[in-house]
Amino acid sequence: MARRILVTSALPYANGPLHLGHMAGAYLPADIYVRYQRLRRQDVVYICGSDEHGVPITIMAEQEGVSPKVIVDRYHSMNQRDFERFGISFDNYSRTSLPLHHQTSQEFFLTLYRKGLLVERTVKQLYCPKCRRFLADRYVEGQCPHCHAPGARGDQCEVCGKWIDPLELIEPRCKICGTRPVVAETRHFFLPLARFQDQLRRWLDTKTSWKDNVRNFCYGWLNEGLQDRAVTRDLSWGVPVPVPGYEDKVLYVWFDAPIGYISSTKEWAIKRGEPELWREYWQKEDTELVHFIGKDNIVFHAIVWPAILMGVGGYVLPSEIPANEFLNLEGRKLSTSRNYAVWLGEYLDRFPPDPLRYCLAANAPETKDSDFSWTDFQARNNNELADILGNFVHRSLTFVQRFFDGKVPPRSELTEADREMLAILEAAPQTVGACLERFEVRRGVREFMDVARSCNRYFDSQEPWRTAKEDRNRCATTLSVCLQAVRTLAIIGSPFLPFSSERLWRMLGEKARLEEQFWDEAGKRPVPQGTALGEVEILFPKIADEAIAPEIEKLQRIAAELDEQRPPAEGTIVSVNLPFGEEIPYEEFARVDLRVARVKIAERVPNTDKLLRLVVDLGSEERQIVAGIAEFYRPEDLVGRLVVVVANLAPRKLRGLESRGMLLAAEDVDGKLSLVTLDRDIASGSKVK
Ligand code: 2FM
Ligand code: ZN
Repeated sequence: MARRILVTSALPYANGPLHLGHMAGAYLPADIYVRYQRLRRQDVVYICGSDEHGVPITIMAEQEGVSPKVIVDRYHSMNQRDFERFGISFDNYSRTSLPLHHQTSQEFFLTLYRKGLLVERTVKQLYCPKCRRFLADRYVEGQCPHCHAPGARGDQCEVCGKWIDPLELIEPRCKICGTRPVVAETRHFFLPLARFQDQLRRWLDTKTSWKDNVRNFCYGWLNEGLQDRAVTRDLSWGVPVPVPGYEDKVLYVWFDAPIGYISSTKEWAIKRGEPELWREYWQKEDTELVHFIGKDNIVFHAIVWPAILMGVGGYVLPSEIPANEFLNLEGRKLSTSRNYAVWLGEYLDRFPPDPLRYCLAANAPETKDSDFSWTDFQARNNNELADILGNFVHRSLTFVQRFFDGKVPPRSELTEADREMLAILEAAPQTVGACLERFEVRRGVREFMDVARSCNRYFDSQEPWRTAKEDRNRCATTLSVCLQAVRTLAIIGSPFLPFSSERLWRMLGEKARLEEQFWDEAGKRPVPQGTALGEVEILFPKIADEAIAPEIEKLQRIAAELDEQRPPAEGTIVSVNLPFGEEIPYEEFARVDLRVARVKIAERVPNTDKLLRLVVDLGSEERQIVAGIAEFYRPEDLVGRLVVVVANLAPRKLRGLESRGMLLAAEDVDGKLSLVTLDRDIASGSKVK
């Protein structure tokens, strides 16, 4: 019985072109896996589409002065075409702006709503009085409350990666008009994730085959305790919320995007003329649902999405989530906004797809971030694809043309060396396949190239250039074995190198189609004697230094520009150049009662990253003070130390704790705090002036 496998790759946002980082993470490994499973005759369907909602798209539209539709139309077709040119073989590539997707998402929402699994709540949110709208997600920017990096967005800080509550942003500004927003109330629906906590943990406990990065990440979330998450937004572009009173709101993009996997499967079924067929893949328990993603999408696929599916009921849950790490470029992080990227379309305008597929597969960021460099790309093409695989294929085929008139020669008695070679070929599909079953593409492609290495060794050891003259039968047998090897390499190489494998297949003069071959049998069949070879071409032309030089220069130029703009490396002491405050008379300063205090107790405030609760001795009394210094001081290092306290500050409540007074601290450009202390022991309660 064939396994029913539904494979998805993360739906890319339709607000920009695809780059190599995309390919290495969620697309190429998935495509390799799918092509392999197809050749194994599994019932596999590969689904994807454009993610066409979300704030980055509407912001781009506003900045260009066009409607969001114009943006998504542009990038949907561009990306679909680039995927195709790169050989990513989706069975369906849909888009989330389709009515079918809106309807499917609304059904999901309504099911949860009717089951009481959505909680409605009034919340405070930033509102731009000038643009007259709530600033959802990235519509607001400011300083990150965690790491103090500027330009942090309302949902996440790119520098420290932490999620941000926009109300905590320091110096928030409306992204569109720069106005300082005000806080106003709005209503939203929340998914009460805590209710799924136990079910999610039990489910995750069964996923022992998952990669450590994914499991550890999920347990981290579960151990912290899941929080409710808003699933609606005050925006006009997206899937309308199908509940009265919510006419000016839409579903949060991360609520509808994964549902896009289902609507894309529905579209696939409709196109096949079997509109109900999608159910087999989503609603039959024995489906294997495999989500290929990048590591930034783990929480959505491994926590939020399964919770939604559990809540709705009747759907399969993900079986595997092979999440890949990130791909760096020439040793530094990719940056699409600064154009520090290799764009797939531009690559494909200059080079063929397969060398890049090979290079990215060999460097896939499976367990840690990996690096793409143009010199490595060139070396992989020239030294491996051309010199090992291409060379073997070319020698084998041209020898048959030269010595046997281009027809597959007959095989006579096999020697030990022949048998060894045939055994390697016979084992190869299983060796490579076992890696792909475990989503180990890097290893899979290495095993594949090792087979080609063995083939070259065999060819050399058999010296067909000599036997052609001295022992024609031997030469014929050698070349027949070589052609069987070429045939095997074409089949088992096709998930990695689909375009070259097709060309190779034609060179072999095979009648049946390559995609009709059976993976498991790939090493066993000789090319029938007498088959006339097709025209022999060079499979992998060498890539010259001159071809990659402009690519390297371009990246070096951008990297230099980025370095100029970069803040000084950590550890560099810089002076702070801030304008001084307005002048005040001495009397005004004297009103601030500064005192020396000794720290008696220091402890972390639970569930916060930043706060410490201190009890300090001010001579005449002890006071509780809550201070935002937990990122810079360990509680145990503070006990016994002298600090300076503003003693006459009106009491405030922080996280429910009363704070009576404030510690003095200096702040540098990076937001790092350093407590003001005393250089000599002095009685607590002493006045500071
Ligand atoms: O990170 C991204 O690019 C998202 N557009 C991925 C969405 S995956 C899925 F849920 F659709
Ligand atoms: Zn505004």
